[in-house]
Amino acid sequence: MLEKIKQLLDEVNCLQATSPEEVEALRIKYLSKKGEISALMNDFRSVPAEMKKEIGMRINELKNKATERINELKTSALAQETLSDDVDLTRTPYPIQLGTRHPLTIVKNEIVDIFSRMGFTLAEGPEVEDDWHVYSSMNFADDHPARDMQDTFFVEAHPDIILRSHTSSVQARVMEKQQPPIRVICPGRVYRNEAVSARAHCFFHQVEGLYVDKNVSFKDLKQVLLLFAQEMFGPDTQIRLRPSYFPFTEPSAEMDVSCTICGGKGCSMCKGSGWLEILGCGMVDPAVLEANGIDSTVYTGYAFGMGIERIANLKYQVKDLRMFSENDVRFLEEFTAAN
Ligand code: DAH
Repeated sequence: MLEKIKQLLDEVNCLQATSPEEVEALRIKYLSKKGEISALMNDFRSVPAEMKKEIGMRINELKNKATERINELKTSALAQETLSDDVDLTRTPYPIQLGTRHPLTIVKNEIVDIFSRMGFTLAEGPEVEDDWHVYSSMNFADDHPARDMQDTFFVEAHPDIILRSHTSSVQARVMEKQQPPIRVICPGRVYRNEAVSARAHCFFHQVEGLYVDKNVSFKDLKQVLLLFAQEMFGPDTQIRLRPSYFPFTEPSAEMDVSCTICGGKGCSMCKGSGWLEILGCGMVDPAVLEANGIDSTVYTGYAFGMGIERIANLKYQVKDLRMFSENDVRFLEEFTAAN
């Protein structure tokens, strides 16, 4: 009997199986009620009393070994099964989460794209700026209310260093480095010291446009803006220009587009007027050209500036501005299909 136990122990030590079915067959062969080990137990009854202790120990040892080995084989066979042939181990984990473009990026890209097709090139400037580029070179008087603490974020240790409150500062950055012809489009983030609410935020995004050359006139501005509006909101879009005031342009205007919802008939979006305000613009004030090293007796220019959130709201009707900066994936995923 000891011989038989030893033989089975040798067998058990070398057991192999590659599938769960093969493991199950081994379990039946060795560990089931009709298996080899049960048979040994049956024979155990006829073992002489003086041998019982030793043989009993050996059978137990064999049983433990068989159980351990078969469990091992079972674990590795199951693991093997999940790694079957059609699994590509070099693949990235599934499902692959594709990111989506942020709605403001989509709109910014669209604006930049439209002006690029009209010959504008991209220019960018720093968000942490000095007073000169944001205000003084843009013809803001020293006591202009926009410089007020209410509006501007100052860097405490350096009262001259601020977070830019508009992208018009990039106009100055471009003009100080480059002589006309200048035709640039400048997207970027701006900051204003405002209480955050559904309708206002302490940071938002603008796109600035600047064109300086010989003989640039207001009618060039008007035509470029009409083309932009029609590309952005559809070929039937109309524009109207209302006189306004900005320190850096003279004359200045604000531009409305015919309502993107009702087409001009009047609805709740345009508060019955048929028009939606979308940007500020004007002829670059000669004082701004001079402050930035451009001869205003030779050159003229126009400029315009618009809020990207404003345009995005007209396109997507996002009711709460805070949605744009909260990174709620459910909101962002709504723009998956957009370009
Ligand atoms: N900088 C203005 C603002 O933040 C927007 C603006 C208006 C920019 C008229 C311009 C412009 O270039 O000509 O409200």
